[in-house]
Amino acid sequence: MQKIVIAIDGYSGCGKSSTAKSVAKQLGYTYIDSGAMYRAATLYFLNNNVDISSPQQVRNYLDSLDITFRPNPESKDQETYLNGVNVEQEIRTMKVSDYVSEVSKLKEVRNELVSQQQKMGREKGVVMDGRDIGTVVFPEAELKVFMTADLNIRAVRRQKELQEKGSKIALEKIIQNLSERDKIDSGRKESPLIKANDAVEVDTSHLQFEEQVNLIVELAYKKIAVNQD
Ligand code: DC
Repeated sequence: MQKIVIAIDGYSGCGKSSTAKSVAKQLGYTYIDSGAMYRAATLYFLNNNVDISSPQQVRNYLDSLDITFRPNPESKDQETYLNGVNVEQEIRTMKVSDYVSEVSKLKEVRNELVSQQQKMGREKGVVMDGRDIGTVVFPEAELKVFMTADLNIRAVRRQKELQEKGSKIALEKIIQNLSERDKIDSGRKESPLIKANDAVEVDTSHLQFEEQVNLIVELAYKKIAVNQD
């Protein structure tokens, strides 16, 4: 069967990553979490006290930044490695979440990560989620999805997710973080979060997880069938 590229963009906390992961599993595709790459770069900069207002310093550190994904031996889920060290848990902490949008604004960071992402998708058969996948990384993607959901619903879902990982965070703090990130991601000069003209909008506020996955898988099969003709 012919393979396509599926781009899933949308606001923070809409369930893009878990949906994309499940869609990829059903199609036998590779899932790539582009947000994890921005998070890993952010963690690297935080750990090294990089002055992000200095493009030269940012470029120097980008030169020694190596981000890879490797499957967990048990769950088989892709996990993020920063210069050979597993940082899958650390990149999801609030410390990183609070700073990641600032780092993602930087042109140097975006140029580097976008080029790595494009290499990862060269062979097709990938589902990538992020903010600029359908607009910048893969403007030719055969299927583009733009996910949205009500802010309060997103915050409750995120709180549950963090709680399951043992981290208890007040709902107010999560709402604040999500709305702040929405604002920065949508308002930035470099590749702002916008819906591509040819993206299908999926509002997940009142959808069950399986419903949103099935909906996207069906859209994918339709695109694959069209491409086959
Ligand atoms: O998907 P996420 O919430 O893990 O992403 C973390 C941050 O990374 C998000 O606030 C914005 C940034 N990001 C981006 O600018 N472009 C992408 N393609 C993916 C994420």
